[in-house]
Amino acid sequence: MRVVDRIGTDEILLDWNESPLGPPESAVNRVIAGAAALHRYPRGLLAEVTELAAGYLRVDSRQILLTAGIDEAVDIALSLARRGWGVQPGFDGYPDRVAASGKPYHAIQLGTDWQPSRSVAGLRADGLGAGDMVFLAQPGNPTGNLLDPAWIRELRDTAEYVLIDETYQDFAAPPSILEQGIDSERLLVYRSFSKGMGLAGIRIGCLVAGATVITRLEPMRRFMPIDAVSLNAAAGVLEDPGYVKNLGEYIRHARPELVSMLRATGAFAEVRDTEANFVLARPRPGTAERILGALAAGGIRIKACEVLGLPGWFRISVGSHGDHQQLVKSLTGGS
Ligand SMILES: Cc1ncc(COP(=O)(O)O)c(C=O)c1O
Repeated sequence: MRVVDRIGTDEILLDWNESPLGPPESAVNRVIAGAAALHRYPRGLLAEVTELAAGYLRVDSRQILLTAGIDEAVDIALSLARRGWGVQPGFDGYPDRVAASGKPYHAIQLGTDWQPSRSVAGLRADGLGAGDMVFLAQPGNPTGNLLDPAWIRELRDTAEYVLIDETYQDFAAPPSILEQGIDSERLLVYRSFSKGMGLAGIRIGCLVAGATVITRLEPMRRFMPIDAVSLNAAAGVLEDPGYVKNLGEYIRHARPELVSMLRATGAFAEVRDTEANFVLARPRPGTAERILGALAAGGIRIKACEVLGLPGWFRISVGSHGDHQQLVKSLTGGS
């Protein structure tokens, strides 16, 4: 499937992990139906989507705060903490938002196996404890893997708060942490509508936490922070979550195919499968610029991972079968 970006250029966008299936039809239909009421404030819509999201995630609606993406979720959650922490390589949105808040940020280095190289006892010795919030994407970005559950468990007993960002959960094999229920006032979970729900264009997510935590955080949110178009789109997909299931199945099927195709090109020293909707490829030394140039000439965008703390690696979103064929053509010099 070819997608058309917002400036109207026909490109193959494999850089931002968007859905290759297009938006959910139920979301589009609900947006169109809701357009007749655009002269009104989105009265009642936030509450409706909160209820729908709670039903979908099987939590109480008092445990959910809808936010304008991960950025607003981090901004609001940080009001509980004095410092932010996260792993490196890792999603740059956390340090960016922590910096914007004026609070200190500490990176926890991952080893060559992309697991934490520091024990929780070591982090405690470094001062991790009261007043600290640790941001962990599960699966991670850019690594696409899951961190050792025993390390996370111990971390949760040490840091005052841990925010588990499950933006890529719909593509992972293990169940969501929400299956265990929100068993602590120190746990926060983020779920995005951007990836598994195919609605990156609206930038909405759910912060899930204990009801008393949500009650504390709710006043931090702006008045009616999410517009009617976005709320209608979110309501649409939640009313028909079959899209999420189909997309998850597609990605889990197409992802190993993409890995095999990339390996077969011979263009990379290493290609890694992940638990997310992207794969990782490490070009042979000295070839990265040539590969990026060939892809750019073919109108294909992928993500170079330097900014995410993983220099020397490319992150490539799982696209449509046609996207993958074009990608291989560009990598192998075909036309
Ligand atoms: C780990 C992680 N969290 C959150 C996001 C963004 O989520 P949202 O679009 O809901 O703000 C991304 C996007 O790339 C991401 O990689």
